[in-house]
Amino acid sequence: MELIQRPRRLRGNEAVRRLCRETRMSPDSLIYPIFVDETLSGRRPIEALPGQYHYGIDAVGQAVEECLANRVTHCILFGLPREKDACGSSAWAEHGVVQEAIRAIKARYPDFYVITDVCMCEYTDHGHCGILSGHEVDNDSTLEVLAKTALSHAQAGADMVAPSDMMDGRVAAIRAALDEHGFQNVPILAYSAKYASAFYGPFRAAAGSAPSFGDRKGYQMDPHNRKEALKECQLDIAEGADIIMVKPALSYLDVIRECADSFDLPLCAYSVSGEYAMIKAASAAGLIDEYRIMCESALSVFRAGANMLITYYAKELSQAIRKGDIG
Ligand code: PBG
Repeated sequence: MELIQRPRRLRGNEAVRRLCRETRMSPDSLIYPIFVDETLSGRRPIEALPGQYHYGIDAVGQAVEECLANRVTHCILFGLPREKDACGSSAWAEHGVVQEAIRAIKARYPDFYVITDVCMCEYTDHGHCGILSGHEVDNDSTLEVLAKTALSHAQAGADMVAPSDMMDGRVAAIRAALDEHGFQNVPILAYSAKYASAFYGPFRAAAGSAPSFGDRKGYQMDPHNRKEALKECQLDIAEGADIIMVKPALSYLDVIRECADSFDLPLCAYSVSGEYAMIKAASAAGLIDEYRIMCESALSVFRAGANMLITYYAKELSQAIRKGDIG
């Protein structure tokens, strides 16, 4: 048989396969979500997310230690406040849960990179991501509270803020508030193409942020849409976003690829709670190999064009990368 090209030559053993990998990953590109509960002391397992915990402000250092032990150096913080009200005022309280968690982390681990999720849904008593007008979330009055919230995170020492609300114009509003107060150098990671997804179910149980009526389809994107994702990214970039994001990850690899090809900014993907919980459940049922599915799922997101990944598996993935099992 005279074959000029034999692609199998480059698959013959582990050494040549590693040499020829087209996708490279690094622990530096992983971001670990940390949930901080203002009413808690110590840590408590999150039922909806096996292997994940709620941390009290007194225990958030433990979450950081575990990250650092696995060479994970970036986190995104979510807060569960003691009090909720109609406008989510504890979101921008000077001594709110996220603000205090940032201070606790920065006091002991100044180099650990802290990103904060900026949204109202954990702080409002109705569970929507902004201020209500009747049964609708009012866009423009929500911008004000988002800007105040992002600013209070920066004042507490956050390295980066990440608005996840999907209001129109929020990147511009946050950028203006940060700049006005001397935080020109705090970057904005915009949840740009965030879909109205069923994959957020376990997170909402974990964060106590499910809407008490209706759904989020009036502000989060319709999963049928692709071009709209490009438009959302374009708008966020024009408003001053430093990094854009596609969320969820696994069902939206096409959108990740298209955004990676269309824009020059770093692109983040969020492998959300439902993606994690499905792997955990299938593995607990003995149906899949958790480790290999975790690796292949994360790898596919980077192959699709993401430059960084928010994932509940950050610590395990970091180890897998260092062992050479992926990337
Ligand atoms: C807040 C927010 C959500 C997630 C991240 N930020 C929930 C939502 O939009 O309902 C989801 C994260 C996950 O599922 O892991 N708006």
